[in-house]
Amino acid sequence: MRINDFINKIIYGDIKEKLLQIPSNSVDLIVTSPPYADKRKIIYNTIPAEKYVEWFMPITDELKRILNENGSFILNIKEKAENGERHTYVLELILEMKKQGWLWVEEYIWHKKNCYPGKWPNRFRDAWERCLHFTKQKKFKMFQESVMIPIGDWVEERLKNLSERDKMRFESRSKSGFGKNISNWLNRDKVYPTNVLHLATECSNKNHSATFPVALPCWFIKLFTEEGDVVLDPFIGSGTTAIACLQLNRKYIGIEIKEEYYKLAIERIKNTQHEL
Ligand SMILES: C[S@@+](CC[C@H](N)C(=O)[O-])C[C@H]1O[C@@H](n2cnc3c(N)ncnc32)[C@H](O)[C@@H]1O
Repeated sequence: MRINDFINKIIYGDIKEKLLQIPSNSVDLIVTSPPYADKRKIIYNTIPAEKYVEWFMPITDELKRILNENGSFILNIKEKAENGERHTYVLELILEMKKQGWLWVEEYIWHKKNCYPGKWPNRFRDAWERCLHFTKQKKFKMFQESVMIPIGDWVEERLKNLSERDKMRFESRSKSGFGKNISNWLNRDKVYPTNVLHLATECSNKNHSATFPVALPCWFIKLFTEEGDVVLDPFIGSGTTAIACLQLNRKYIGIEIKEEYYKLAIERIKNTQHEL
């Protein structure tokens, strides 16, 4: 089958079977949130943490085949706490993926900024998730300018009275390295963001229990693709990644095993197409 047979489609079925049909080196970005180990067992019939790596490795192998040489893979995942400590399956997964030939380029943090407070005997509310960034090679497509953010009010106060030191790079007193030339920020209104994304969780979509906000795939799609590029979400759930693609003029491919979520994704896509 050719890649055009999959473009702008949500494929209903099991990722393990459906990925095999997608041609090699045909996708520019993979962004996805798989079922987390042991979470929502009743809904997804999901994998125990101890078996997670074994279950996921054939999938990452196929994803590596499908991804373009200069493409990126963003994996949104978070390990649970069990018997008083964090499980290590995500860390083990990273190590196994490296053995498979993936480069682990970065770990972005999705800070869920609308989390309500809570307390457990040995920890606080978990308010962040990992967005692991993998690539096939060191040189990959990245468009940093596309996610620049307003510089913020701090700059007016900081740049009001620049000292001589602020106008050059200088070695710090502790000899720990060179300080920044602060005057570089003069006349700028945008800066590069950090690797922490402060985004609220999605509260409006009540028909799927584990959606991520559209802004999350949007951010990575802008950062790693250009208009017309192909984005794959192999666990697309309610279709959020496809919505992001429609908003940003990218092509999408989604896979979903549950009929109810597959139908939900199709419905959301239709509604978005009407709105655009
Ligand atoms: C965490 S949810 C993804 C939610 C999605 N990001 C969204 O915003 O709606 C994971 C999804 O993967 C689907 N899934 C689980 N196992 C699958 C499999 N073997 N093949 C395809 N999809 C699967 C689940 O039904 C679920 O909808």
